[in-house]
Amino acid sequence: MKHIAIFASGKGSNAQAIIQYFKNHPTVKVALVLTNNPSAGVIAVAHEHKIISAIVNTATLKNEQTVSKLLDALKIDFIVLAGFMQMIPEFLVKKFSGRIVNIHPALLPKYGGKGMYGIKVHETVLKNNETETGITIHYVNERYDDGEIILQKTIRVEPNINAEKLAAQVQALEHEWYPKTIEQLLK
Ligand code: GAR
Repeated sequence: MKHIAIFASGKGSNAQAIIQYFKNHPTVKVALVLTNNPSAGVIAVAHEHKIISAIVNTATLKNEQTVSKLLDALKIDFIVLAGFMQMIPEFLVKKFSGRIVNIHPALLPKYGGKGMYGIKVHETVLKNNETETGITIHYVNERYDDGEIILQKTIRVEPNINAEKLAAQVQALEHEWYPKTIEQLLK
């Protein structure tokens, strides 16, 4: 069994899609949901599926001993960021080199970096009259939205669409592609 930890800060729709996908999977198990946000929707998602959840503040996330102990105890092999709004500390990037991935709701390297998340990404795509947008799944390094790209999927930006509708289209793409890309990477 490969054990995944999902790190998330928000409503957790990607976490939900990933947990659902790997339910009863023969070789992959979601073993932990970690959040920095005590009011994140993802905590309820974890409870609903009887998955261990941990709320870890910024100082604790930087504490190598504590974080390693938690991940080692649950035999975590792979970390999936799904809307995790904290920088991953260097020791974790090193410990899980090539085994941490992130998803971003745009076609990186465009519309990424610090502060570029949520609806702001889609508003900026529309403001710049882009004709295409999409998702990027990439490895994580020490910089925001910067590691090697694993997969991108593109959609056309419909004329006169608003940021909320565009966000929903992009999220549907995320839910479709993130779980199966993780599965491929764990083969
Ligand atoms: C997702 O759309 C993800 O691409 C984005 O946060 C959202 C989390 O939604 N991540 C980033 O912007 C990373 N820079 P969710 O909580 O419903 O899965």
